[in-house]
Amino acid sequence: MHQYRVLSGIQPTGEPHLGNLLGAVRWWVTDQREGDCFYCVVDLHGLTVAGDPAERRAASITMATLLLAAGLDPESCTLFLQSHVAEHAQMAWLLECTASFGELRRMTQFKDKTAKGGEEAARVGLFTYPCLMAADIVLYDADRVPVGDDQRQHLELTRNLAQRFNARYGPDVFVVPDAQIPPPGRGARVMNLQEPDRKMSKSAGSPQGVIGLMDDPKDIERKVRRAVTDADDGPDPVRYDPAAKPGVSSLLELLATLEGVGPDDVADRYTRYGPLKADLAAAVVATIEPIQARFRELEKDPDHVRRVLRDGADKAGAVAAATLRRAYDAVGLLPPAG
Ligand code: AMP
Ligand code: TRP
Repeated sequence: MHQYRVLSGIQPTGEPHLGNLLGAVRWWVTDQREGDCFYCVVDLHGLTVAGDPAERRAASITMATLLLAAGLDPESCTLFLQSHVAEHAQMAWLLECTASFGELRRMTQFKDKTAKGGEEAARVGLFTYPCLMAADIVLYDADRVPVGDDQRQHLELTRNLAQRFNARYGPDVFVVPDAQIPPPGRGARVMNLQEPDRKMSKSAGSPQGVIGLMDDPKDIERKVRRAVTDADDGPDPVRYDPAAKPGVSSLLELLATLEGVGPDDVADRYTRYGPLKADLAAAVVATIEPIQARFRELEKDPDHVRRVLRDGADKAGAVAAATLRRAYDAVGLLPPAG
């Protein structure tokens, strides 16, 4: 039997990038051997921002296909679409009735995302989004949630909500999950190659600094070659020093993450930016190309992907229904007469 339960999610909208792979998805692939893993394409979360219905449909299938191409094996994990399991939205309501307005207002991601358009334009779903995310997690009694560093605060909130709910309604209703974040400098926070002070993101920052998982190898090479580095100071400018040299340090972190060594070890091998960038580009392409090749194969059979998602939703739904009933009972929602 499995030692632990895992749940994680990724939004289908926007182009998936190297940060998603190194911060989250490659850990999902490793975990499926040891844990009982549920992975969810969070299409409901995508509704917090504007989007075209046809594009949303296509994006959900593309993301599921890409996750399979990246190594998720439907025999070893449960992959499903969030909207296929109605309990996510139902559980989110229970957690909205657990969270306080003040604590949701403090969420950095909400503050960042509303900074431009203002509160007037922000959808209420963007505000309550962390409750839906917490619902995704507690529904599966997840012990571990593999995510990038940007989700740390949402995970902390999830723990608080689970504990508060348990304190009110019974000690064992929800499992309190642990965030599983890669160590610093090992993919936890992959930075935009043009703006080393900003994380690589599907929705913000210079597109030239984002390495898309579907990018052509030529584009990847060009983006890495043009990555912002710092002043070429002295005979050995290739040093790992995130505070003083954020540009080159983030390149060193990337190559170190791909090679499974420390950034200082990588820095020792180079004295110039050019060769470092050439090797980094080659390592990124070597990681991404096999994923793209599998994607092109899987893409030919979208029905297969749809079936994987349907079977996943069947398995996920059974677990989610039991947890939701337990939570309904705990708060005092009367079950229908049998
Ligand atoms: P999202 O693209 O926001 O749906 O994120 C999916 C997963 O990728 C989450 O676990 C994020 O924490 C992770 N992630 C997103 N951007 C980065 C990044 N720049 N570096 C590391 N992990 C990331
Ligand atoms: N909020 C996460 C992000 O933007 C995606 C997400 C939704 C998630 N539900 C989740 C991640 C549950 C882990 C567990 O990256």
